[in-house]
Amino acid sequence: MSQILPHGGKLVNRIAAGGQREALLAEAKVLKAITINTWAISDLDLIGVGAFSPLEGFMNEADYRSVVESMRLANGMVWSIPITLAVDEAKAASFTAGERAALIGEDGVIYGVIDIDSIYKVDQKLEAVNVFKTDDLAHPGVQKLMERSATYVGGAITVLNRPQPEKFNEFYFDPSETRRIFAEKGWKTVVGFQTRNPVHRAHEYIQKTAMEIVDALFLNPLVGETKSDDVPANVRMKSYLALLENYYPKDRVFLGVFPAAMRYAGPREAIFHALVRKNYGCSHFIVGRDHAGVGDYYGTYEAQDLLKTIPAEDLGITPLFFEHSFFCTKCGNMATSKTCPHDKEHHLTLSGTKVRALLRDGVCPPPEFSRPEVAKILIEGMSELPVG
Ligand code: ADX
Repeated sequence: MSQILPHGGKLVNRIAAGGQREALLAEAKVLKAITINTWAISDLDLIGVGAFSPLEGFMNEADYRSVVESMRLANGMVWSIPITLAVDEAKAASFTAGERAALIGEDGVIYGVIDIDSIYKVDQKLEAVNVFKTDDLAHPGVQKLMERSATYVGGAITVLNRPQPEKFNEFYFDPSETRRIFAEKGWKTVVGFQTRNPVHRAHEYIQKTAMEIVDALFLNPLVGETKSDDVPANVRMKSYLALLENYYPKDRVFLGVFPAAMRYAGPREAIFHALVRKNYGCSHFIVGRDHAGVGDYYGTYEAQDLLKTIPAEDLGITPLFFEHSFFCTKCGNMATSKTCPHDKEHHLTLSGTKVRALLRDGVCPPPEFSRPEVAKILIEGMSELPVG
């Protein structure tokens, strides 16, 4: 069995190098510029390295409308999350389709250029309701969407400078690199795991259950923008390292970060997360309870149900679905309702909020919830932990 193909069959590469880069940089200095924030820089870079294959740029109007309405690109390929560049209306009006613009960060760095093929106004409410299933401003993804301009600029991009991580550089791998590494290790089947949290026992249980049937685990924590009360990526990274060191076989796990922003779009984001992990070379992808969810906006298994509606050949990566897992004091181990016959009173489930309260008081959550090595790091990182 050969390695899984990227979405669309070919890994996109829009990173300029050598003479092409020099020429475009010189050109960009005299082009009209669009200022891009960290979120857009991360999308730009992920498009550039092919993590968002087959996208070659920020979506044009046809792709955007098709994705919002039917979770497919205009060419019919599955794609669930709009990847768009919102530009201030007056600024957008200064451009015409066919023009090239420089993409400059708030730090003055020229991150890339865009060959504009479409400038369009959107109905943000419609986008919110279709993508997030709500237009409630209390939803962090909706809030982010509504803060942006409703004018989008679409077109192919070329990356000229890559964003530089402040820490943990050694865990940043492009899809071409993870694909090469997985192949070198001889892994034919790799299960991808998305997380924006420390890895607790429930995560460990579903990862290891999956590891029983595939060659390896790609632990791929999202480290881009998250909401302020999520545990910061730096603290999480330390906790992943401690966990892997103590509880995982070194030759069957690979840790690499996913530098994307969290959308909190639940079911639609689960599809997006799966497609992106396919681009990184994963053959399987774990979807547990309330994947990429927030608050009570999505049902526990809604992400799984939506994924099940996508024909296997259109998705290309095999989702592995897991029920809500917990520690059962009667069984004396981790379980789900599929494997445990006991009543809820025997099941240990702690909410993220409760765990944060314990950690803030310097109290270790029970080992049935979190490995002590992980809890220790979270307690040490308390100064970086959010209130709430
Ligand atoms: S997410 O926003 O990245 O999905 P989180 O880091 O909590 O949040 O979850 C990572 C993955 O583990 C997701 O697939 C999620 O569905 C799954 N998951 C989290 N907690 C549990 C649990 N207790 N039981 C089963 N699956 C879980």
